[in-house]
Amino acid sequence: MTEPAAADSSPYSRGCAWVQGEYVPVGEAKISLLDAGFSRSDVTYDVVAVWDGKFFRLDAHLDRFERSMKHLHMNLGLDRAGISEILHECVRRSGLRESYVEMIATRGRPGRGARDPWTFQNQFYAYAIPYIWIVEPDKQEAGSHLIIARDTVRIPEASVDPTVKNFHWGDLTRGAFEARERGGSTVALPDLDGNLTEGPGFNIFLVVDGELRTPDAGVLEGITRRTVLDLAAEQGLTAHVAPLPVADVGQADEAFMTSTAGGVMPVTSIDGQPLGDGTPGPITMQLRQSYWDAHDDPRWTTPVAY
Ligand SMILES: Cc1ncc(COP(=O)(O)O)c(C=O)c1O
Repeated sequence: MTEPAAADSSPYSRGCAWVQGEYVPVGEAKISLLDAGFSRSDVTYDVVAVWDGKFFRLDAHLDRFERSMKHLHMNLGLDRAGISEILHECVRRSGLRESYVEMIATRGRPGRGARDPWTFQNQFYAYAIPYIWIVEPDKQEAGSHLIIARDTVRIPEASVDPTVKNFHWGDLTRGAFEARERGGSTVALPDLDGNLTEGPGFNIFLVVDGELRTPDAGVLEGITRRTVLDLAAEQGLTAHVAPLPVADVGQADEAFMTSTAGGVMPVTSIDGQPLGDGTPGPITMQLRQSYWDAHDDPRWTTPVAY
């Protein structure tokens, strides 16, 4: 198939990256094989969306990114304004109005013969590419089939802190294959105590008797999750952020997943059992609508200067 004529002949039209102190077309961005971000998963990152030309909750993403770097003893020698400026410029050069914007801090490269992580020079990378959907909008309307993994548990938080956004996805990927084998479209992992945690790139909510339930621990504190909790409070919905035993999942009338990459994504069956009438539930759809409406709300948006 031939490519459609490029609407934009700019070298950045497929995305723009910031690597080694330069802006480059995303397809040309390269990092060293010796960077411990690659060889040791010694990295943290964050992803913020641009929707209709505006960053959504950029401050919350930068706060989380800064907290994560601090936790990992990383220092980029770049302040928040500097990071923000690079993200803006990546989006500006790409010209994208809807974009998936990633910022990455790696441990960097060792000195010759060195191994001590505190001696490395930490590196910052960033890129803006077209917006990514974990679940495409038409599939969201139909709803996802969620499997709760039986053979895979989430890496314990005493080993890898899930509140520090990380590349330790071995458990999540293994769970995704398990879900596929069991006829599901996606997966959520339990922890070692049998409580629900999260899935590959998203948090989980159940709706039980009109109230929201989402795990309090063992998960990334998603910005979309937080937005849903904020919107729920504004709409007078009760939300419980507390341990969520897998054994309680059968009580759910509705369920949904939340992520920067896709928003509020309805779930219509869990472990093969339909939820409600098997279509996306009313509270889910109400929150999904308000989530997207909030992308025009000035308190949560930062326009890109194209
Ligand atoms: C493991 C995990 N949980 C949850 C989320 C959702 O977080 P957010 O809503 O900030 O995108 C992500 C996002 O990538 C993730 O990787």
